Amino acid sequence: MKVNIDGEVKTLFAVWMTDEGVKLIDQRKLPEKIEIFTARSSDDIVHSIKDMLVRGAPAIGVTAAYGLAMAKKNDEDMNKAVEKISKSRPTAYDLFKAIKYMTENNFEPSAAQRYANEILGRSKKIGEYGNELIGKNSRILTHCNAGALAVLDWGTALSPMRFAHKEGKNIFVFVDETRPRLQGSKLTAWELGQEGIDHAIIADNAAGYFMKKGEIDLAIVGADRIASNGDFANKIGTYEKAVLAKENGIPFYVAAPGSTFDFNIKTGDEIPIEERNQDEVLFLNENRIGPVGSNGRNPAFDVTPNKYVTAFITEYGIFKPGDLGSMRQAMNKDLFM
Ligand code: MRU
Repeated sequence: MKVNIDGEVKTLFAVWMTDEGVKLIDQRKLPEKIEIFTARSSDDIVHSIKDMLVRGAPAIGVTAAYGLAMAKKNDEDMNKAVEKISKSRPTAYDLFKAIKYMTENNFEPSAAQRYANEILGRSKKIGEYGNELIGKNSRILTHCNAGALAVLDWGTALSPMRFAHKEGKNIFVFVDETRPRLQGSKLTAWELGQEGIDHAIIADNAAGYFMKKGEIDLAIVGADRIASNGDFANKIGTYEKAVLAKENGIPFYVAAPGSTFDFNIKTGDEIPIEERNQDEVLFLNENRIGPVGSNGRNPAFDVTPNKYVTAFITEYGIFKPGDLGSMRQAMNKDLFM
């Protein structure tokens, strides 16, 4: 992604591999600062994923792939490295896909690089296919951050928007702020700004207002794990946006690469949902926003039933939830998957 650092435009990935270690943009610091963190051990990789220096399903997968190659190079105990990295976050399927891929490929650095290149290429394809769904003048809702920061570049939900914008379509993006960690306002709005895409941040509870007024034409979100029947997990709040979209007759698209599809599970009931520390809800920028003595609950994801999904935008094309069998066939023929 192109990033303007002190007036100088640089090209950065969300995460990359160097001889020093795995480098990544510390997303907790955005949009105020672009700070690079270097992970030098599998413990640093666990910290980066668990504490969300890097986040977003495909980027978590790439970080794990690079991290395992680094751990092997460092002569770490690979059983332990695999075990702790697989416990870093439970919901995004990409993490487990990347660990499996690296285990099958003997944790070779070239395999990690191939994994990263594949993810990058696939997110670009998602953009090309998804662009076909975006009209010349479109107002699009998105939730959380499924952009370049959540992949390496391009993004999943944001990739079609980037293609549409480059093609000269007149698009406007409504960005859900995405409490409690504000990935929408801190990350998605920042990315759209870097790309020059017109947008507005809205409070999480404002989407229904804009939908009912006819100001939103379609919604595109990412996913953390998609079950065989098309139920999918994504950032908490996605479910209610999908229900609102159906109620208001607005198409609701889910953009994700094959690495996010878990065909080992039948329905969304089998997706493990991470519950994070209550302080993410009770505090905002270190200031307590709830009364002392009140507790919080903080599920990081919710599951949206397949009936709310208009279609999935993937690197193999666009599939309705009922057609995921053909998507699965395409994936079975794909040597990388
Ligand atoms: O908790 P996060 O920030 O990792 O959650 C991210 C999301 O929910 C994204 O929408 C999803 O991972 C898709 S990213 C291309």
